[in-house]
Amino acid sequence: MNYGHNNPLFKKKLLEYIHEDGITHGLDLHTKAKGEFMETFNEKILKPRGYEYVMQFTGPTGTNAVEAALKLARNVTGREHIIAFTNGFHGVSLGALATTGNSHHRGAAGVSLSGTFRMPYDGYMGDDVNTTAYLEKVLSDSSSGIDLPAAVIVETVQGEGGINVASFEWLRNLEAICRKHGILLIIDDIQAGCGRTGTYFSFEEAGIKPDIITLSKSLSGYGTPFAVVLIKPELDQWRPGEHNGTFRGNNFAFVTAKAAIDHYWSDDTFSKEIKRKGEYVSERLEGIVDNYGEGNFTTRGRGMFQGINCINGDIAGKITHNAFQNGLIIETSGADDQIVKFFCPLIISDESLKKGIDIVEQAVKEICAKEDSIPEESCYFDDVTVSA
Ligand SMILES: Cc1ncc(COP(=O)(O)O)c(C=O)c1O
Repeated sequence: MNYGHNNPLFKKKLLEYIHEDGITHGLDLHTKAKGEFMETFNEKILKPRGYEYVMQFTGPTGTNAVEAALKLARNVTGREHIIAFTNGFHGVSLGALATTGNSHHRGAAGVSLSGTFRMPYDGYMGDDVNTTAYLEKVLSDSSSGIDLPAAVIVETVQGEGGINVASFEWLRNLEAICRKHGILLIIDDIQAGCGRTGTYFSFEEAGIKPDIITLSKSLSGYGTPFAVVLIKPELDQWRPGEHNGTFRGNNFAFVTAKAAIDHYWSDDTFSKEIKRKGEYVSERLEGIVDNYGEGNFTTRGRGMFQGINCINGDIAGKITHNAFQNGLIIETSGADDQIVKFFCPLIISDESLKKGIDIVEQAVKEICAKEDSIPEESCYFDDVTVSA
């Protein structure tokens, strides 16, 4: 909810649309609301950035957009495999799930998850190892056992995987490798996009131009389900109705998504605000880690997409539980739920942001103080029970 809950600006537009008897369900046919959204997205988001993409409105969840992106990449290239990364999360329908790393989600598939090669994400082998060098090596070696893939799918900041941030240099290397080998580059911006990292698209500052982009989550601005796949025009090779579905393009979402872009993305004021607040979050989290993390906790993230790595999921859970008891809902992410994840609305006031972080600071202080010292690699302890 990048723009907060029930944002009154968007609610007004939505109510007006309903009162005026705007079309609710238009399948994938043309409606005024759809046309106006597309025009606004093109004029205010794509054109100013020098991007040219066609828009495919898939079923309204993130995983629907990923399914379409993967299927299109396979159809266009005639190749089967997709390269996905360690700790990546792309959804839980079967095609997307095959690219998702998490064993908990993969375990529920009930069938084998095929068609994906897994590669180490930036930082996976430690800070000193450039994992794109490995990718380049296996793609250049005809005996590596890695067939030439249709596409690479990647998050610039892995959300569910634990707020792992890919460096801009790593992303540029990845793009260069894709170009060299004729592989399509899919950026899954479903969580990191729509301003979360400080720019509308999370990859803008890396200077890369993906072939396909998936967007969802905060795209509609109001919680009305909505997803889009942005496709370079020459790759739009779908035949009519080839990838269909009943709920493609949600007219209520077109209305609220347009309102979100008009209000927040007509100039760079909002982007600057996100960056300013992001710097505040960074400073505060670094302070918390320095004061209470005993050298083991670390911070991670970009813009307003940040986290504290508590090394241990048990500790992170106790911290978020403590925060909840003091009025703050904050979740964890990562393979072991070891990251306390800061993902508040981008429109949050300075006062509320401070209040929320104060609650987390107090929680970290209380939980970690219960141990004399945080052991190497964690501040795990058995003897604390936090009542529900
Ligand atoms: C990067 C990314 N891709 C895809 C998805 C799947 O979206 P949905 O849950 O709407 O299917 C998510 C959801 O968390 C996500 O973070």
